[in-house]
Amino acid sequence: MKNKFYITTPIYYPSAKLHIGHAYSTTVTDVLARYKRLKGVPTYFLTGTDEHGQKIQETAEKNSKTPQVFVDDIVVGIKDLWAKMHISYDDFIRTTEPRHEQRVQDIFSQLLKQGDIYLSKYAGWYCTYCESFWTETQVGEQHLCPDCQRPVHLEEEDAYFFRMSKYADRLVEYYEKNPLFITPESRKNEMLNTFIKPGLEDLCVSRTSFTWGVQVKEDPRHVVYVWLDALTNYITALGYGTKEDEKYQSFWVDPESEIVHIVGSDITRFHVIYWPIFLMALGLRLPDRVVAHGLLMMKDGKMSKSKGNVIDPLPIIEKYGVDTLRYYIVRETIFGSDGQFTPEQFIERTNIDLVNDYGNLLNRTLNMVKKYFNGAVPSKVSNYTEFDDQLVGLLEVTLSQFENLMDQLKVTEAYMVVNQLVSRANKYIDESQPWVLAKDPEKKAQLETVMHHLIDVLVTATTLYSPILVETAPKAYYQLGITNPPSFYVLKKRDYVDGLLNQSPQPLFPRLDPTLEISNIQSMIVKK
Ligand code: MSP
Repeated sequence: MKNKFYITTPIYYPSAKLHIGHAYSTTVTDVLARYKRLKGVPTYFLTGTDEHGQKIQETAEKNSKTPQVFVDDIVVGIKDLWAKMHISYDDFIRTTEPRHEQRVQDIFSQLLKQGDIYLSKYAGWYCTYCESFWTETQVGEQHLCPDCQRPVHLEEEDAYFFRMSKYADRLVEYYEKNPLFITPESRKNEMLNTFIKPGLEDLCVSRTSFTWGVQVKEDPRHVVYVWLDALTNYITALGYGTKEDEKYQSFWVDPESEIVHIVGSDITRFHVIYWPIFLMALGLRLPDRVVAHGLLMMKDGKMSKSKGNVIDPLPIIEKYGVDTLRYYIVRETIFGSDGQFTPEQFIERTNIDLVNDYGNLLNRTLNMVKKYFNGAVPSKVSNYTEFDDQLVGLLEVTLSQFENLMDQLKVTEAYMVVNQLVSRANKYIDESQPWVLAKDPEKKAQLETVMHHLIDVLVTATTLYSPILVETAPKAYYQLGITNPPSFYVLKKRDYVDGLLNQSPQPLFPRLDPTLEISNIQSMIVKK
């Protein structure tokens, strides 16, 4: 296991307000970053915005703003959303910042000088919305963009190209030597079969049909095509190519740093083909992992503003709290597969996992510790029943399984394991029947054991949930009497339970009334 961690989200297009789909990538990345910090691993978390391109230029014009003013306004909203969602990024890069633009110009110059980039003509089917050229086969007879299904049009212009094919063999070799580079595995096969095996086409890396981009120094009619501009953010943000490049040295160059890009499945190809090839051409180290998560869909398909079916995260957060949304994002859909957002599932997930299981366990337990022991948690004791043994056994297993799954970036599975522990502890209360033990003075030690184990489970669950439940975990710790939340290391040693004095129990999550809240959430869907 490497001893440092560099994790990134995609940089988002500030062409409109972000929706819950964008919040998905950012939340999962945030949870992983917080988990690594909990383990004491030096972590750097980068997010940002991808601000150039034809679409932004056109949208700004439609709004009677200059592109810069237009993106500045949207970025304020994006940063506000991330603040409300408690996204703990270390840096927010904007591709219009000089620290990025200047490096993109240098990178272009280097690649041009060394012959990886050459001038030619481009003719192809272009989708303005996705800013992508497509081949004849990809657009099919109806000439529709394979990504967004909008009509594409033929375009020809002078353009610079990057010699992709030169690096294809080295790329495949990298895939073979690094089996975890692309996950899930199915995405790797898709890349190999659809793009690499048929022969990698050279990539167009400049445009002359619009001006909103990084200018090519050697040929100012051209601006750098968005993907070469965008992907390099992952190194320019760290100070690559400057004198102040400590972060770059520490988190990119140092082989002890694990580099992970979290991306949606829609942009995997750019991250696992073009990005590693650009890096090879620059003679730089490649990332360890590109993790492609699935897309969050609506009942009527892909979420899109033009379709009028997007969910704005802000009203959800205001009404149900940020932790409920963060939890839903991580837990509802297996990380890697596509998922569907429905109000019914959102309510059910909240009520079952957070209200009934975790919230209820805390409430029941604290009420009993208060009633039977005046709030003071009984100190370590021996096991009496098979239920004690089973619960303690499961607790140990949960910690190691959770760590193992999180380190493999299997976030949803990791949290399923925590859920199982919490459910088991609720069942343990029913099996141990503390209210019966409390009636018999001879069973006092046994009752102490039960309370001790329950608190142990609650501290563990709270700590493991803390990367997701950023607002609730402090409240739970307070009620549990924990003033110094344990690190993952302390948690594994399990020496925090003695001497805790619980505070009065307060419900962590209110139960949601399905009939009321389903229509409430439905009214939050942003129509066209
Ligand atoms: N700017 C490019 C990325 C450049 S990265 C060097 C881009 N931006 S985007 O704003 O269109 O979307 C970026 C990402 O948002 C997607 O890859 C995905 O991670 C996330 N999502 C957007 N819609 C989504 C869903 N409906 N569901 C889950 N994630 C989605 O592409």
